[in-house]
This record gives sequence, C-alpha cells and structure tokens, in this order.
Amino acid sequence: MNRFFAAALAFLLLLSCTACVGRAASPEDSGQTEPLEAAAPQIPAPDPSAPSAQPEEAPAEQPYVRVIDPSKPMVALTFDDGPDGTCSDRILDVLEENHALATFFEVGRNVLACPEPVARMVEMGCEVASHSNAHKNLSKLKKATLLKDLATADEAFAAAGAEVPTLVRPPYGAVNKTVKNATGRAMITWTIDTEDWRSRDAQTVADYVMNYGDLDGEIILMHSIYESTADATAILVPWLVEQGYQLVTVTELMAFYYGELPQPDHFYGYTYFATHGRTDTPIELPSMFPPVEEPAPEETPAEPEPLPEETQPSEQPTGSPEPETEEDTPKKPAPVETPEPQELHGEGLMPEWLWPSAVTSYVNAAPKPSPITATPAIAAAKRTAPKEEPAKPKEEPAVPRESIGSNTSLPNPAIFSP
Ligand code: NI
Repeated sequence: MNRFFAAALAFLLLLSCTACVGRAASPEDSGQTEPLEAAAPQIPAPDPSAPSAQPEEAPAEQPYVRVIDPSKPMVALTFDDGPDGTCSDRILDVLEENHALATFFEVGRNVLACPEPVARMVEMGCEVASHSNAHKNLSKLKKATLLKDLATADEAFAAAGAEVPTLVRPPYGAVNKTVKNATGRAMITWTIDTEDWRSRDAQTVADYVMNYGDLDGEIILMHSIYESTADATAILVPWLVEQGYQLVTVTELMAFYYGELPQPDHFYGYTYFATHGRTDTPIELPSMFPPVEEPAPEETPAEPEPLPEETQPSEQPTGSPEPETEEDTPKKPAPVETPEPQELHGEGLMPEWLWPSAVTSYVNAAPKPSPITATPAIAAAKRTAPKEEPAKPKEEPAVPRESIGSNTSLPNPAIFSP
C-alpha cells in the first residue's frame, strides 16, 4: 500500500510541476507574440508605397515641340569664333537642357580642325553661320581674297555636315562696301556686346546681360571659345527662359521680330537694328523638319487645316504638300496667314540650312493680324536713337556696341583673336 501511495503522490507532484512550468512560460510567450502582431501590419505598408513609386516613373518623356510665338519676347544668343573642343559642347549642353537654340558664327579653319560640334549644332537645330575662314579683317582684303576666304570657310562647313552658310558675321564687325554688298551673303553684326573676351568672367558677362534692361529683339554677342563664356551661358540661358524670352536663332529673330529674312548682299548693322522696331507682319518660317515628315504629311496638317479652310476660300491646299501648284500663294513675305509654312522654302527665301534634322516645329500661325503689341518702348528707342555706324572708319571695332537701352558706348573691342 505504501508503495502504491508513494507512487500516486509522486504522480500528483509531477502533474503540478508541469502546470507551474506552463503558467510561468505563458507571459514570455505573450511578450513574443505581441511584437509579431505589431510587425505584421507593417508588412502591408510597403505595398501602398510601391504603387506610388510606379507612377513617378510612369510619366514618360513626351517629345518636346518647339513653338515660337512672334508676339512674345525673343532674343538671339550668338557665339563667335568657334568651334571649340570643350566650350562649344558645354554651351550646347546648356541650350539642349533648356530647349533653346542659338546661332554660332564659326571660323572656317576652326571648323576644319574641330568639326564635331558643328554636326551637333545642326542636329539640335541651331543656326550655323560663317565668321570667315581665317578671322581676318575682311574690310582690308581685296575682293578676290575676300571671296576666296569665304569660299574656303564654306568648304569646311560642308565637310562638317552643315549647309553652306548664307549668313556671315564679319570679324570685328569690320565692313566696307564690298563686304556689305558684294559677297552674295547676308552680313550681320549684333546689338549687345557682352565683351566676354575682355572680362573673361562669367558673372560679369551674366550681370551685364541681366542688367541690360529689355532684351526683346536683341542679338547678344559672345564667344564660344572661353570657359567663362560657357559658364555665363549656364547662368544666362535658364534666366532668360525664366524671364519669358524665347531663345531664337538670328534668322528666326529677323523673320519673327523684324519681319524679313537676311538677304544676300545686305548688311544688317547698327543702323538697321536702330531703325527697325518690331514688325507687324512677322514672316512665317517653315517647319523645321519638313523633309522628315513627308511620308505622313496628310495626318499632321489635317488637324490644323480645317480651321483656316472655314475662314478662307479653298485656295490653300489641304493636307498634302503641293509645292509646285501653289507656288504663288505661299511665296514670299507671305504674312502670317495660314499654317501652311512648308511652301516657303521652295522659293529660296528660306535657305535649306534652316532645316535642321531635329525636333521642332514653328507654329506661328495663331497670332496673326494684331499680335505684335509689345515693346513699343524698345522700338521707339531704336527709332529715335539711330547713330550711324560710327566706328566703321576704324578697322576692327567697326560695329558699335549697341545702346538701345541705357547702356551706351563702351570702347569697341579692337583686338581679340581666337
Ligand atoms: Ni570673331
């Protein structure tokens, strides 16, 4: 009996011990499970965040369409003396990032030595113009020598993949009658001289432009061979865009703002710009890339066409390009009436070098009859303050630093060479 009792007692003891152990362990268990439960809801959290990350990537880049509104402010940046192996590309980077264009007056011999930037300019839609072949004072050359110099430069431009320029900026702005009227080119200078070659300081150049005043319709001179100018460009271009200026090429400025295209054997210097205000009849430039769009022309014009047709007789071609039959209508300074720009180039008014192979379209059809309301001040200033091209007698600095606003004469740059 004792044995049996002892065994039973032992069994009871054993049971009670296991019960105690079970209770003691329970709090620990609960402590463990709680954080697990807390952690559990965190798992779904990342899910909502994940989809939010997707839409950020979703906005796919849409092709940028360049549109110039002739009624809005515009300015032409010009860069002389290049191309330069590093500075030209830096400037082009800035322009590209800001969907801006500029005009590059390049020296033929530099183009021959460094053609790559020129090809990129063409691809971007920038205007490539000539600054002679050897950057000599053209007014001191005999005509035959002058023409040979320009022709040599032309060869370099062609070899670099650019159209032969019809627009020329004479080095130092130095001109005589032959340079002005007997080269078969359009000679053009500038209206604002940053004198970047003199200061070689980016902030000085930028400050000069930013403090100049109204820049609408101005042609700004810089040189693409200085790091400081590339730095200044990086400051100026975003600033100009922010200020509402459209950055256009020289030919675009001439067409949209001054209402004419640069003509051969014409000189566009101080007097021209000082006496011409903004035009009431901007010239309609063709789409930048008509050749590329030839295959599917019906589609693009189809949309805008219906509008003009309602308001006008059916003289205008609809949809498809009929360059030959409609030669008359769309010809010359055909004011900005209908959005059928393409025809303009067949005429020869618009040289083909204006047709880069990149991405843009000029749609200046909308603002037509009464768009040009702005900038009377500038126009008036230009008309009232015409000087002759005073510095001409001297060789180098022939072209005066323009002073359409308040900035007046500074010593003309006589000596600077790339
Ligand atoms: Ni120069």
